[in-house]
Amino acid sequence: MKLVLFGPPGAGKGTQARRIQEEYGVVQLSTGDMLRAAVKSGSAIGQEADRVMKAGQLMPDSMMIEMIAERILQPDCAKGFILDGFPRTVKQAEALDEMLERLGKSLDCVIEMQVDDVELIERISGRFSCAGCGAGYHDHFKPTRDIDICDECGSGEFTRRLDDTAESVRARLKVFRDQTAPVLPYYEAKKILYRIDGMADIDEVTRRIKNILLATANLS
Ligand code: AP5
Ligand code: MG
Repeated sequence: MKLVLFGPPGAGKGTQARRIQEEYGVVQLSTGDMLRAAVKSGSAIGQEADRVMKAGQLMPDSMMIEMIAERILQPDCAKGFILDGFPRTVKQAEALDEMLERLGKSLDCVIEMQVDDVELIERISGRFSCAGCGAGYHDHFKPTRDIDICDECGSGEFTRRLDDTAESVRARLKVFRDQTAPVLPYYEAKKILYRIDGMADIDEVTRRIKNILLATANLS
């Protein structure tokens, strides 16, 4: 299985990628998570990513393409992967096709999760995640079962993203419309683009994604 979960900030890409990863044993490749790990490490790339992410802008294509090109060669990607947050420009989409072609592979599908701006802002402003295992939550839509205890690992520590400020979210939504949405016609022309209404609840969105995977991906 090789798929792209595509959508604006807060659409639910990370939430759904984690579920698919668990169910099918394919690995989630989140460029946002990779960059946040680089920020934490304090590396030169991390320092640049910290500035760019807080401003809600995009990191350079060449850097992101290199990051994914290295990552998909790792043994844990052999069974497949879910791209979450990549590609984000037409240049990244073209580079992805080239690197997959060199490996004799191709994408099964690109799933666009459509969610309106009011809902996106509500989802982003209530988001938090477990500092231990990274499980994602929401103040209203997906609270922890027990107050302040992670459902998945039992940790009591949680974090909120530094780029989830109102100003940064406005910039991220504009960048999505201007630079990322143009990727959609690219995949539409290749006839691998599927659109789902991402406004439904988390379980229903998972069901819709799984239906597309059943029709397009080799799930053995
Ligand atoms: P990235 O980390 O990819 O952020 P993003 O695309 O802005 O998307 P988010 O992670 O904010 O949202 P999501 O769709 O994963 O939603 P989630 O599942 O968390 O990128 C961050 C930054 O890194 C970028 O701005 C850029 O600077 C840089 N970057 C990354 N990749 C790059 C690239 N390829 N090129 C250049 N730069 C790059 O859900 C949100 C909340 O809603 C959660 O609280 C969740 O519980 C809740 N929720 C989810 N689904 C539902 C539902 N159906 N109903 C109700 N609530 C829901
Ligand atoms: Mg995410």
